[in-house]
Amino acid sequence: MQFTQFNSRGHLRHLLTLEGLPAPLLTQLLDRAENFLRPAGSLPARSAALSGITVGNLFTEPSTRTRASFELAGKRLGADVINLEIQLSSRVKGETMLDTIYTLQAMGVDLFVIRDAEAGVHEYVAGHVEDHVSILSAGEAHLSHPTQGLLDALAIRRHCGGFAGKTVTIVGDLRHSRVARSAYHALTTLGIGELRLCGPAQLLPPVGEFHRGRRCTTLEEGLAGADAVMMLRIQRERMAEAEMPEVADYHAQWGLTPARLGLANRDCVVLHPGPMNRGVEIDSTVADGPQSVIQRQVTYGVAVRMAVLEHVAKGRLAHD
Ligand code: CP
Repeated sequence: MQFTQFNSRGHLRHLLTLEGLPAPLLTQLLDRAENFLRPAGSLPARSAALSGITVGNLFTEPSTRTRASFELAGKRLGADVINLEIQLSSRVKGETMLDTIYTLQAMGVDLFVIRDAEAGVHEYVAGHVEDHVSILSAGEAHLSHPTQGLLDALAIRRHCGGFAGKTVTIVGDLRHSRVARSAYHALTTLGIGELRLCGPAQLLPPVGEFHRGRRCTTLEEGLAGADAVMMLRIQRERMAEAEMPEVADYHAQWGLTPARLGLANRDCVVLHPGPMNRGVEIDSTVADGPQSVIQRQVTYGVAVRMAVLEHVAKGRLAHD
């Protein structure tokens, strides 16, 4: 049977990928996330929507933004949140991921947030947990990072004034990027005007993937008239030494400098999922400049994760 992210009542139970999710659901999650945003300096939005629910964060790959924001999101919704330190867990004694999940499930964890470098782990785990338990992806191999895709979509909606007629350019190592894949699914579903894919040939995705995007062979072509540009770092952890571009050459050809940003629309906003490699894919003057919304993306990440946790938890409570 084909895996479905929805429960028997058609409510989102797991979130492993944005691929195939309908536009009204994505819009509902973005709208809800907007409700959780507050002016800078004011107290964060809180609710008791997840009171009595336990969220378990299991990250087998490093993370700053996703892990911290899922933790904050859970706590701000009133959940109990545990963060399993994988290096200090019994995984290092040979326990499998599934046995780890079963152990935490037996302690009452209801929502698992999982980041893993291996493709298929999330779906495998989702196929083995109890009916009331949900799996949310915090990143799967090079394939999927759904909450990142949502927060990027929210940034573009807020700072570009919507999706229709807008041009978004993703630049860099798209081949190894789960961020790019989730952004592609979110933006094409939500009706982006044009999505450009821009980077060195060896770092562009295989032909057949991203088929609704337009491939650009130079940064200048990719940036001309763009409303938003998303810079990606080189995913060194997913490539062999021989594949890695030389940093100075890469920056010279693909790095976003103030002069190059000047080729885009005057109001073009700059996104980066983080972590950034300053001086490689992006200059600090751009990353910290007036067109950058990179820190806003981080803020939107907490709001989006609150929206996703709340939405999935509502479906769970309906189950009970
Ligand atoms: N964008 C992102 O996933 O960042 P982290 O790896 O720090 O979570």
